[in-house]
Amino acid sequence: MKPAGASVTFLPANVTAAAVKGESLLDCALAHGVRIECECGGSCACTTCCVRIIAGNEALSVPEAPELDRLTLEGRHGTALRLACQALVFYGDILVETNPDCSS
Ligand code: FES
Repeated sequence: MKPAGASVTFLPANVTAAAVKGESLLDCALAHGVRIECECGGSCACTTCCVRIIAGNEALSVPEAPELDRLTLEGRHGTALRLACQALVFYGDILVETNPDCSS
């Protein structure tokens, strides 16, 4: 039986992976061989895991204050930018650009 979840495509690697509901984008990427920097190990302290959501933002958890604070503090705020370690997958199809220039 196929687990409930989502399909996540990571660019530019062009890897599509099935994600289990509640899994972070970071964990999904790493489990499927997609490299995303994660200096703090996923504790919302570094922003090196910043990704750009190209499509499917509604399929992800809503960013909480610590994530928004971290992105703002680092000057990496923007509606399409998320920290991959904090963005949890719920359902649907998601298109993600890894390692973008998150400064704009
Ligand atoms: S890995 Fe450090 S904030 Fe996501």
